[in-house]
Amino acid sequence: MKVIIAGSKGMLAQDLIPLLTEQHETSSFDQDEVDITDKGRVFEFVGSVKPDLIVNCAAYNQVDQAEADRETAFRVNGEGVKHLALACKEFKSVFCHFSTDYVFDGKGNRPYQPDDEPNPISAYGESKRAGEVFVHSILSDYYLIRTSSLYGKHGPNFVHTILRLAQERDVLKVVEDQVMSPTWTVSLAHGARRH
Ligand SMILES: NC(=O)c1ccc[n+]([C@@H]2O[C@H](COP(=O)([O-])OP(=O)(O)OC[C@H]3O[C@@H](n4cnc5c(N)ncnc54)[C@H](OP(=O)(O)O)[C@@H]3O)[C@@H](O)[C@H]2O)c1
Repeated sequence: MKVIIAGSKGMLAQDLIPLLTEQHETSSFDQDEVDITDKGRVFEFVGSVKPDLIVNCAAYNQVDQAEADRETAFRVNGEGVKHLALACKEFKSVFCHFSTDYVFDGKGNRPYQPDDEPNPISAYGESKRAGEVFVHSILSDYYLIRTSSLYGKHGPNFVHTILRLAQERDVLKVVEDQVMSPTWTVSLAHGARRH
């Protein structure tokens, strides 16, 4: 297959691209080459490749900063995803998009299921949900993978932070009111490739 991966310099993409490249003809970009908020540029790139599949790893992921900068969060995670979905429709590509557990309100006491009702309670969660809604409404053939608390060797993450602080300090103070399912980017990349 011909596969485009968006957000190529990100933590997940850097583990996913080599795996996909073993089996497929891949091309990838990050925002310095194609900004997904620029619909014309997205269509130009996708049209030049006419891929069978587009995998979107591009996102605005700064959860706390999104509260003060909702506009950027919605532009990238909402409009940007809409442009990729529209390009998939135009060029008859399947879409694989990554979303997040932040589309839920976190009040449940069991692992979330795909059909659970989204109810985001943060700007980041709302912006990622906006992207999901565009995907649902534009496409019928897509994969939507909601992942959680990624860690991997190619990006800043909770595990890196704790390992660094553990070397610097004798005592660590860490939030205790948050429950998450840490997900290794390599596991997610293998799981995504299988499907
Ligand atoms: N990290 C997590 O804990 C986590 C948890 C749940 C879900 N997810 C989702 O999983 C996916 C992969 O996450 P990740 O942690 O690998 O992401 P990441 O490391 O933040 O990588 C995202 C990439 O997208 C790029 N990007 C940002 N805006 C763009 C734009 N307008 N056009 C094109 N590229 C753009 C970023 O570039 P810059 O660095 O220059 O901004 C970055 O290289 C995302 O959909 C994310 O929402 C992540």
